[in-house]
Amino acid sequence: MPPATTPAHVAIIMDGNGRWAKQRGLPRLEGHRRGAKAVRATLTAAFEAGVKYLTLYAFSVENWKRPQDEVGGLMGLLNYFLKQELKTLQKNKIALRTIGRTDALPADVRKELAATIKATAHHKERTLVLALNYGSRTEIADAARAYAEAVASGKQKNDEASWDDFARHLYTAGIPDPDLVIRTSGETRISNFLLMQSAYAEFIFTPVLWPDFGKDELHACLAEYARRERRFGRTSEQVAGAKGEK
Ligand code: IPE
Ligand code: IPE
Ligand code: MG
Repeated sequence: MPPATTPAHVAIIMDGNGRWAKQRGLPRLEGHRRGAKAVRATLTAAFEAGVKYLTLYAFSVENWKRPQDEVGGLMGLLNYFLKQELKTLQKNKIALRTIGRTDALPADVRKELAATIKATAHHKERTLVLALNYGSRTEIADAARAYAEAVASGKQKNDEASWDDFARHLYTAGIPDPDLVIRTSGETRISNFLLMQSAYAEFIFTPVLWPDFGKDELHACLAEYARRERRFGRTSEQVAGAKGEK
C-alpha cells in the first residue's frame, strides 16, 4: 500500500522542451523527442509510487498556433509514442484516457488513440490521461452546452444545479480532481490547464526542463507534496484532529 500522503492524481504541465533543445543548439523537435523519453520514465515511476491517475498536458488548444512543422512533428511523435507504449501500458495494467477535443486531431493519431484506449480499457487500477487539444475554457464551454442539452431534454433539473451535476459533463467525468499539479521549466502559470478541477490541488513549480524530468524529480515532488497540509477551508488544528481520530 502506498503511504496515505501519496497523491491519487498527479497532473503535469510538461514544459521546457524547446528551451532544452535551444540550450544544446538542437532543433525544437529534438527537445520534444527527449520529452517523450521523460514521459516514459515519469509514467513508470508515478504508478510504481502508487499514483492512480496521471494526467499529462501534451498539447493545448493554443499550441496549434505554433509553426506548422512543429505541430506536425508533435503529432508524429504522439503517434509513435502510442505505438511504442502500448506494451508498457499493458505490462503495468494502465488504462489510457484522453481529455480534450480529440476529434480535431489528425486521422492517424485518432485511430491509434482509439485502438490504445480500447486495448487498455479493462485496466481499472491505474489510468494515464493524455490532455490533447485540451483547454479548460473549451472544456467548460463544451460542458455548458452538454448541460444545457440535458436540461432541455429533461434529463437534468436546473433548479437542483450543483457542481457535481455540471462536472459530469466535463471531459474529466469520473476522474477524481488532481491532488498535485506539477509544472516544469520554471514558468509559474496554468496555461488553461484543469482550471476548475485544480481548485484544491497542491502546486509545484520546478525549474527542471521537461526532458530532464524523471524518477528522481518525481520522487522529490512527491516528498514535497507529503510535507504540505491540505486544509480544504478548515483550520490546521481541525486537520490535525481529524488525522488523530483515524
Ligand atoms: C512543452 O515544451 C511541450 C509542448 C507545449 C507541446 P515547449 O515546447 O513549450 O518548450 P518551451 O516552453 O518552448 O521551452
Ligand atoms: C502548456 O505549455 C501546454 C503544454 C504543456 C502542452 P506552453 O508552453 O504551450 O504554455 P505557454 O504558452 O508558455 O503558457
Ligand atoms: Mg512552453
